[in-house]
Amino acid sequence: MKGTVLILGASSAIARATAAAFASRGYGLYLAGRDEEELARDAADLAIRHQVPVATGRFDAEAFAQHPAFIEQVVEASGELAGVVVAFGYLGEQSRAVHDWDETLAIIQRNYTGAVSLLNLCANRMEQAGTGFIVGIASVAGDRGRQSNYTYGSAKGAFALYLQGLRNRLAPAGVRVLTVKPGFVDTGMTFGLPGMFLVASPRYVGERIARAVERGRDVLYVPWFWRYIMLIITHIPERIFKRLKL
Ligand SMILES: NC(=O)c1ccc[n+]([C@@H]2O[C@H](COP(=O)([O-])OP(=O)(O)OC[C@H]3O[C@@H](n4cnc5c(N)ncnc54)[C@H](OP(=O)(O)O)[C@@H]3O)[C@@H](O)[C@H]2O)c1
Repeated sequence: MKGTVLILGASSAIARATAAAFASRGYGLYLAGRDEEELARDAADLAIRHQVPVATGRFDAEAFAQHPAFIEQVVEASGELAGVVVAFGYLGEQSRAVHDWDETLAIIQRNYTGAVSLLNLCANRMEQAGTGFIVGIASVAGDRGRQSNYTYGSAKGAFALYLQGLRNRLAPAGVRVLTVKPGFVDTGMTFGLPGMFLVASPRYVGERIARAVERGRDVLYVPWFWRYIMLIITHIPERIFKRLKL
């Protein structure tokens, strides 16, 4: 056994696939989420399929005050972590967020503040141990603000910047930080959304994430071609971009 990977937001489709990819490589798992029954079902399935230990626990990304005790509970159950994956997130509705502060706050907290609260705790432990890896699932939406999802995009963009700083801080301690920027992935989050193209499967994304960790990558656009799509999008001059309906 290679140690335990904590999966935060384990019931997400991408998280499930990532958990399976790590389990198939011999890592134990700690699946954390809000729906304990679902977590227990997933844990039983992964443990049988891959013959690795799988523990579960409840957390809420927005319950900041409970995060220190939650991380203690994880380490008590599974030992110091080999890795942590932040997979939880919330797309929300941009058109609602414009008028509804609660929706705006939910988008920011579920994509950014909650992740920072939990990763601060994990990062300090890994830095002290001098080993471990951190995976943060950001988004291509964080590379440029667009009218259709700029609240979500700004939270993901802030998260990517946080991960970049964390990578810079933790590199001397031997702790690796991977920023994942998926394009469109076929999950509950994107189900029924208009304008989707080049949609990837969660399984493909999960496998790429585990492989990128093995290879010590810093930033992963997944599928790979999104790096070039975003390169073009980020280079469109603002005076033109602001007139586009994106
Ligand atoms: N799908 C895409 O096209 C796409 C593209 C780019 C980036 N991403 C990112 O990839 C990650 C996984 O996305 P997905 O598409 O697999 O999403 P998903 O299936 O909609 O899952 C979202 C996950 O976030 C969890 N979550 C939401 N609020 C939470 C909270 N307050 N506390 C704890 N957990 C919470 C949900 O838990 P519950 O089941 O309890 O609600 C669920 O497990 C997300 O960060 C997403 O932003 C997705």
